[in-house]
Amino acid sequence: MSHSADPRPMSAVPGATLTGVANVPGDKSVSHRSLLFGAMAVGETKITGLLEGQDVLDTGKAMQALGAEVIQHGPGEWSVHGVGVGGFSEPVDVIDCGNSGTGVRLIMGTVATHGFSTTFTGDASLRSRPMGRVTDPLAMFGTQSYGRAQGRLPLTLVGASNPVPVRYVSPVPSAQVKSAVLLAGLNTPGETVLIEAEATRDHTERMLNGFGAQVTTEITDEGRVITLKGQPELRPQTIVVPRDPSSAAFPVCAALICEGSDVLVPGIGLNPTRAGLYTTLREMGADLTYENEREEGGEPVADLRARCGPIKGIEVPPERAASMIDEYPILSVVAAMAEGTTVMHGVKELRVKESDRIDAMARGLEACGVRVEETEDSFTVHGTGGAIPGGATVGTRLDHRIAMSFFCLGMAAQKPVTVDDATVVETSFPNFLPLMEQLGSRFERETS
Ligand code: S3P
Repeated sequence: MSHSADPRPMSAVPGATLTGVANVPGDKSVSHRSLLFGAMAVGETKITGLLEGQDVLDTGKAMQALGAEVIQHGPGEWSVHGVGVGGFSEPVDVIDCGNSGTGVRLIMGTVATHGFSTTFTGDASLRSRPMGRVTDPLAMFGTQSYGRAQGRLPLTLVGASNPVPVRYVSPVPSAQVKSAVLLAGLNTPGETVLIEAEATRDHTERMLNGFGAQVTTEITDEGRVITLKGQPELRPQTIVVPRDPSSAAFPVCAALICEGSDVLVPGIGLNPTRAGLYTTLREMGADLTYENEREEGGEPVADLRARCGPIKGIEVPPERAASMIDEYPILSVVAAMAEGTTVMHGVKELRVKESDRIDAMARGLEACGVRVEETEDSFTVHGTGGAIPGGATVGTRLDHRIAMSFFCLGMAAQKPVTVDDATVVETSFPNFLPLMEQLGSRFERETS
């Protein structure tokens, strides 16, 4: 699981000063859901700003395999002709979700209540990730699953022909698990209820309501009780995908740590279920301002302006983890540049991402001369006060966010940092390298 079929080692050259405007791609979570929900609406959904990263393209192919029509009209411009809730047909081949946990888990939820079989697989990273967290609640609807140990892919789901609605208390803070259960509930009569102890990203709830489903959220002593009324008719939508706060994190954080930098990252969604990194960076004393704050499509949006300046280590509380779960790798890089120690609490979910992100960051940071400590559920980075030695090669483990984090670290380190495979950035941020070059970064291709 160390790298893709044709790995491309690449080094980030130190001494970058980043200036200008960074137009980051569309939001990955919203892009997956636009294709998926469009495929279950009756008629044509139009999408602009779709992320054309490999993860989302794989979800598009899966929607076609299930009977929807997915058409690209131009860069970021797509349409989906949906087949209606319950209208998918049995795929004639295995569904390959590549690197995407969101893709596979949401699609599993969707087909779980269609009376046919679907076999899923993915790359080495995805095949190592736990699927029991999704197949367990799906079994309550009447869905059968046949996978490897602990529900690992490849896995076949036999969908329930007469599904029964479910009330499920999620044992993990995961929007993917929540979404899988709600999507299975779409083609189920009655009310499906999902209870989560902590708020995870709420794009599924917001977007399904936009498509005409009835999804309500009640805050109770038990947690957030999310109720979906089954078998709605979904109406096609016109969707403008917001820019991804998780991708914006890379140019923002690179600017914060590279001397003399001043970067504007326009139009970033600051939905509170996604914006924990930006709260954290401001607590660290980062020179990060929100300009032109506004609302777009019902979501708070701002242009982020990041300037390099002194940053101090802090304690990041566990209750913030869900709102910045994908941003801990790049936060660890900022923490490595900071003055003092940063302790990240309540982060054990990082161990089951595209890689074990605590282990991947810990080994990479150590190789670059940064002191770290880890427990199962926490990660501590001892800041170098702006003097990261660098000069190492780090393993990306098929994980796009590990690759981009170490590229950012290399820009600010004393010696170049080599990432063993740059191709993995395709997953979520295909134009990462040219965009960072346009801001002032330099990369050198290594011969392996
Ligand atoms: C996502 C949910 C998160 C996140 C992933 C996208 C989603 O995963 O890490 O990148 O779109 O629902 P978990 O639900 O497993 O935390």
